[in-house]
Amino acid sequence: MSNETQDLAAPAEMAARLVNPASFGDPATLHADLAWLRGHQPVSLVDTAGVDPFWLVSRHGDIMDIERQPDIFRNGDLSTVLIGSPMLKAVENATGCPHLTRNMVNMDGAEHRAYRSLVQSWFMPGNVKKLTDDIREIARAHVDRMMGLGGECDFVADVALHYPLHVIMSILGVPEEDEQRMLMLTQQLFGARDPELSRKADAMADPDTAIKVFGAVVADFHAYFSNITASRRAEPRDDLATIIANAMIDGKPIDERAANDFYILVATAGHDTTSASTAGAIWALAERPALLAEVKANPDLIPALVDEAIRWVTPVKHFMRAVARDHEVNGHQYKAGDWVMLSYMSANRDEAVFDDPFEFRLDRPANKQIAFGYGPHLCVGQHLARLEMKTLFEELLPRIESLEIAGEPAWTQATLVSGPKRLPIRFTQS
Ligand code: HEM
Repeated sequence: MSNETQDLAAPAEMAARLVNPASFGDPATLHADLAWLRGHQPVSLVDTAGVDPFWLVSRHGDIMDIERQPDIFRNGDLSTVLIGSPMLKAVENATGCPHLTRNMVNMDGAEHRAYRSLVQSWFMPGNVKKLTDDIREIARAHVDRMMGLGGECDFVADVALHYPLHVIMSILGVPEEDEQRMLMLTQQLFGARDPELSRKADAMADPDTAIKVFGAVVADFHAYFSNITASRRAEPRDDLATIIANAMIDGKPIDERAANDFYILVATAGHDTTSASTAGAIWALAERPALLAEVKANPDLIPALVDEAIRWVTPVKHFMRAVARDHEVNGHQYKAGDWVMLSYMSANRDEAVFDDPFEFRLDRPANKQIAFGYGPHLCVGQHLARLEMKTLFEELLPRIESLEIAGEPAWTQATLVSGPKRLPIRFTQS
């Protein structure tokens, strides 16, 4: 490492925390670390045991500038998510590339556009809006169930986890009886080091075991979705599963693996993230009775509640990029082959963009949160996520009078997707 590079290294203890899944169980400490980096070293080298060194980009504006240049900051060449070096090698040995599955997140340029355009129009607001009645019915059923729980529940386990799962699974044509299996598989993929969620959390430090566990999870997903592909090819319906199963690129049907990886992406990206943000909103309201009263009195504030909760939780903590050639952004010189972390978790607390970034506020005139990313990979599911959350709060808020935390909440210990894992609440009905 050159002296110049060394000067930009994140302090050792901080670097170790930033890559440790367990730290994400304590977001306040991580937020303090990230605030320090934004103030002192907005592009910091994280060089710590167990992971390949990478540049952590902590400021909102720098992340947007990087995402505006997808030909230089690419998704396909290195892992798009933070994983340990031994694990990365194991993935490369198993798949021949740095990615466990091949989907649009780790594609670039024309290939990315081709895959994304297969589903983009389906996810546009005009089309997603057609699902409003179905989503409202699912939301109401979940609220009815919650009201039957006697005034106390774990909002994550009892409502937040199942509601977006049910929406996305119905969109993908997965029957209700199989949803628990999908939930388990997603948690095993994203929460693989969280002792409460993983198949073999204690053994996951060993890359050979980890790759076997991940491989088994992906194989389970594939086995499941192969049946859906076959059924939608035989009997097309008016749903997203049919679009994926019959997708054509360059006049040829996509192969079964590509279709399966597509389902995995939509199935997994589409619920943990939305659940985490939904639970975050209820957590914030439970701690702020005045805010709860305000939104109840004025439901026009619900969209602001949704966006603030998404900013607050920022369930997708980062994505990684690979630098294609030497290039400078806002005074920092990146080198070809560098690995770069876009820390959305940090960007959404950037004091240069948000007044009182650590406050939960509904009066942010235009919430500039970038929890959905930015640029060509901007979350394709953002309108669906917002619609789901808005609909749930429209159904839930009129039916509760008061809300309070009734135990010790907890956060998922995972570096990629993390949010409330447990949220015990007490509520009275209106
Ligand atoms: C991509 C966040 C909900 C499907 C992304 C990205 C982020 C993100 C940060 C990467 C953006 C980038 O690289 O610039 C979130 C959050 C959600 C959410 C915070 C909920 C609050 C959903 C839902 C779906 C979905 C509901 C689908 C049903 C996708 C897909 C991509 C993506 C397919 C890949 C897009 C691409 O690479 O072109 N999301 N997401 N997401 N998301 Fe979401």
